[in-house]
Amino acid sequence: MGMIPYTVLHENNTLKNLQTGPNQCVVEIGSERGEGSTSYLYQWAHNRGLDFYSVDVVPDAQAHFKDMPPDFNFCLTEAGSEWCKTKLPLLHKRIKVLYLDNFDWIDPNNLQYQWLHDQIAAYAERGVVMNNENCQEEHRLQALHCLPYMDYQSIVLIDDSWIDSTTTTGFNGKCGTAIPLFLTAGYKIRVDETDGKYKLFLYRGIEL
Ligand SMILES: C[S@@+](CC[C@H](N)C(=O)[O-])C[C@H]1O[C@@H](n2cnc3c(N)ncnc32)[C@H](O)[C@@H]1O
Repeated sequence: MGMIPYTVLHENNTLKNLQTGPNQCVVEIGSERGEGSTSYLYQWAHNRGLDFYSVDVVPDAQAHFKDMPPDFNFCLTEAGSEWCKTKLPLLHKRIKVLYLDNFDWIDPNNLQYQWLHDQIAAYAERGVVMNNENCQEEHRLQALHCLPYMDYQSIVLIDDSWIDSTTTTGFNGKCGTAIPLFLTAGYKIRVDETDGKYKLFLYRGIEL
């Protein structure tokens, strides 16, 4: 799908002026594969003096960003949720912007394509069953473990997820079961479709 939700950080006037301070960071779980999220979020963080962490289970993006300055941190892990549980607490930082876009979602329309079966096989080689239930659970665990470290005023950018009244949570896609955790923690949800693209994000401590 690839909804590019992170561009709301410069498109929305209020988000442009988020207050940032010391010991805050930007965390992306699921590094880019050429689409630009890692470059974009690193630059956003760097411009505000915040450290940046891009977390992934494969080193592809790490190779791409190998000559980056010290405020760029690529974190290779067995699962993003594991990094959130064990490594994030050791940073002693508050997350200002969190971007959740990792464990790939299967759109049944794409099952006709060989690339999707290759992707499922690549997950299997890491011992992971790539299915939508596991995808949602992985994103839910990431939300659970990140929540204690979110700055009160913060943004959660969500990709490949949408409002869906036919599901038990009211949401579907990668963060179908993660979004309710943020709502319970006081976040509000916003869907921005101003440029015809569906961008979903959560925000707290901000008047939009
Ligand atoms: C859709 S891509 C990310 C795209 C990028 N965020 C963007 O917007 O351009 C998904 C990434 O998630 C990674 N991934 C898969 N399972 C993961 C997991 N359990 N934890 C963290 N990353 C994972 C994949 O290796 C892949 O690089």
